[in-house]
Amino acid sequence: MTTLITICDTCKRDGWNPYEASQTDGELLAAMVESAAESVAGVETRRHACLMGCSHGCNVAIQSEGKLTYVLGRFAPEAEAATGIAEYARLHAESENGQVPFKQWPLAIKGHFVSRIPTLPNKGI
Ligand code: FES
Repeated sequence: MTTLITICDTCKRDGWNPYEASQTDGELLAAMVESAAESVAGVETRRHACLMGCSHGCNVAIQSEGKLTYVLGRFAPEAEAATGIAEYARLHAESENGQVPFKQWPLAIKGHFVSRIPTLPNKGI
């Protein structure tokens, strides 16, 4: 099953200056994640405006139907972060329930978890 990376493309980190920057930090990170995930089997990306974590951007969400959802933040728009996010999404896609063992976590995502959201109960909600 596909794991979807949702990247907030409106995140602006502390110090972001609209008079100096032509893109938001989120737009920069989104482009890098899209590139890093492009050839990763079982992983897709999308952009979304504001994941409601503005004070700790840049933010992404990792989701797949029937699996745990993870929200991660405090990323700088850097290639290492993007590669780690794409790799973590690949491991999430390969996992049974979305839980990836700690020892497999890419270094770049450690310390960036914001929340874990359980799957919806299968009660037609
Ligand atoms: S602008 Fe990215 S979480 Fe609000």
